[in-house]
Amino acid sequence: MKVTVVGAGAVGASCAEYIAIKNFASEVVLLDIKEGFAEGKAMDLMQTASLNGFDTKITGVTNDYSKTAGSDICVITSGIPRKPGMTREELIGINAGIVKEVSSNLAKHSPDTILIIVSNPMDTMAYLVHKTSGLDKNKIIGMGGALDSARFKYRLAEALGAPISDVDGMVIGGHSDTGMVPLTRLATRNSVPVSKFISEDRLNKVMEDTKVGGATLTKLLGTSAWYAPGAAVSGLVQAIACDQKKMFPCSVLLDGEYGMDDISIGVPVILGRNGIEEIVKIELSDAEKAHMKQSAEGVRKVNDLLEL
Ligand SMILES: NC(=O)c1ccc[n+]([C@@H]2O[C@H](COP(=O)([O-])OP(=O)(O)OC[C@H]3O[C@@H](n4cnc5c(N)ncnc54)[C@H](O)[C@@H]3O)[C@@H](O)[C@H]2O)c1
Repeated sequence: MKVTVVGAGAVGASCAEYIAIKNFASEVVLLDIKEGFAEGKAMDLMQTASLNGFDTKITGVTNDYSKTAGSDICVITSGIPRKPGMTREELIGINAGIVKEVSSNLAKHSPDTILIIVSNPMDTMAYLVHKTSGLDKNKIIGMGGALDSARFKYRLAEALGAPISDVDGMVIGGHSDTGMVPLTRLATRNSVPVSKFISEDRLNKVMEDTKVGGATLTKLLGTSAWYAPGAAVSGLVQAIACDQKKMFPCSVLLDGEYGMDDISIGVPVILGRNGIEEIVKIELSDAEKAHMKQSAEGVRKVNDLLEL
């Protein structure tokens, strides 16, 4: 199992670290455009191997795609992150060119790879890869919903005063402050709807706090977060590598599902060795449908900025 992570910055390195610690991949290649940077991150991470007890071999390369050849899974985290006050959508000017070039290089050296897109604006970057890489649609996965759902569960546990392992919930829709659709109606505490424990007002606050989860951290950190994003990506990589058939909300190309087509947006999917093995169709309430529609309109507006 060979995994390549492009971009050895905050998210890429965190992702490589979590993959290594989970010890399911034989090799992780970190690639960055900055001379020596990926090599340095890889060496530092490898020096944690005896301490953290993993055997995954991490190597770093400067823009040499021949070293990524034969990767089973590739993750794209290259590009600029947002600064406080910025939206993810504002990153498109720089990141679209980077993601297009990187995905084409990865597909050239690993034509059978499964690609996970992390760079923002993520839904539009995933759509761009669908339009330009030539890879099958089940092999192009945008990561956003897994992170947003983890942030949702964090906020739910906080509101309930419960351990996080007691709560379950999912966020679908676009990976943006206004586009996220936290499914509060379906969130549970050990199978019991959370509305049994907290008021509608408190649940609305959970929803709003979840939607600005990334912006809240960007304001505190001065740049966007990396631990939870890296952990979320590693969860997707593991589900594919180990053929776990796990369900995550991911940004995938829709072809009629949820009444939409020609758009990549977050919906629940089953991940296994073939990438997206199934798009799970769940019955949404009228309010959730309206929220999804509004979310899709937002994603399409950003997609329209692409020069395809
Ligand atoms: N989808 C999500 O849930 C999610 C979560 C967090 C961050 N992000 C996004 O992930 C991206 C990376 O964030 P970060 O905090 O790691 O940024 P970062 O600046 O720490 O790292 C980005 C790295 O990409 C490298 N890079 C730039 N152009 C490249 C190219 N052409 N080829 C190879 N490497 C290149 C840079 O040298 C840098 O090391 C941002 O776009 C950010 O918005 C997405």
